[in-house]
Amino acid sequence: DVKKTLMSGMRPTGELHLGNYLGALENWVKLQNEYNCFFSIVDWHALTTAYKEVEQLDMRIFDMACDWLAAGLDPKQCAIFRQSDIKEIAELHLLFSMIIPLSWLERVPTYKDQLQQLKEKEINTYGFLGYPLLQACDILVCQGEVIPVGEDQVPHIELTREIGRRFNHLYNSEVFKDPIAKLTENKVLPGLDNRKMSKSYQNYIRLTASPDEIMQKVRSMVTDPERIRKDDPGNPEVCSVYAYHKIFNTDQAQEVATACKAGTIGCMQCKKILAEKLTLLIQPIYEKKQELVANPDYVKDVLNDGAKKTRAIALQSLEKVRELMGV
Ligand code: ADP
Ligand code: NA
Repeated sequence: DVKKTLMSGMRPTGELHLGNYLGALENWVKLQNEYNCFFSIVDWHALTTAYKEVEQLDMRIFDMACDWLAAGLDPKQCAIFRQSDIKEIAELHLLFSMIIPLSWLERVPTYKDQLQQLKEKEINTYGFLGYPLLQACDILVCQGEVIPVGEDQVPHIELTREIGRRFNHLYNSEVFKDPIAKLTENKVLPGLDNRKMSKSYQNYIRLTASPDEIMQKVRSMVTDPERIRKDDPGNPEVCSVYAYHKIFNTDQAQEVATACKAGTIGCMQCKKILAEKLTLLIQPIYEKKQELVANPDYVKDVLNDGAKKTRAIALQSLEKVRELMGV
């Protein structure tokens, strides 16, 4: 196999939204033929901040697998698996914890930022500090070479490289490759209220929303606040709906902006056009998901097959590590 190995994952912390699709999933679907892919539903990572919310975890993992498949990930092209099915990742995390200097973890920017934002001090755990190390293990255990990430994750990939190199150096070996970050082209998608679309803000459109739900969400989007009557001239540059037209309705965006500025199209009409466009994108995903939800055994098979494939390569990595570390 001459294809390079690509590895990425998401925490099963809730339903996927259009931001997740645009910022990650759509990109994965595009890359799956070009690379040997591993996509992990990282449930151990979900526990770092939500270690008490365990009841729904199984359901969320199933739901995430359905969303990924519905969006077009093909299990013939990529291994889709649940992180905690690969115990070798936990073993590698433990072994790496012996050789990683504490300062490497303490200086990770996302750790420093989040620490300041933390209200509950009980979340500042050993596992929270070790989050990027666990991520490094996800990547290194399956010999990941290309890691699609957003800008904020780049330091994590650097850390991954450093820990792999440190291992190779300490044990005079070549077990781990140098993974590189592949920056996701798409920018951050704003939510219905113009802040970043996020499941924590309730400002999102679900990736598998029904047509009615899409219309209802689009109706709630913030437009130019100075535009009172529908024939007032509007300013598209301050309008969330226009921002979406530019992303999801590129062909008609210019036309929509001109009509808005001239006051010949009202906000409601403009929203209707957008909702129809989003429905064209979401409808096939929505329908595919309904099929998958009705076929839980198929989805479970996909996760089991993905785990089997991943475990085989993880074991190869761990056998070398165990031998070199004498355990
Ligand atoms: P995490 O799993 O790290 O908690 P999220 O669940 O917020 O991250 O997002 C999962 C993926 O979707 C990440 O790759 C993230 O960069 C991407 N993503 C999330 N929200 C947006 C957004 N509004 N625009 C673009 N990409 C996003
Ligand atoms: Na592939």
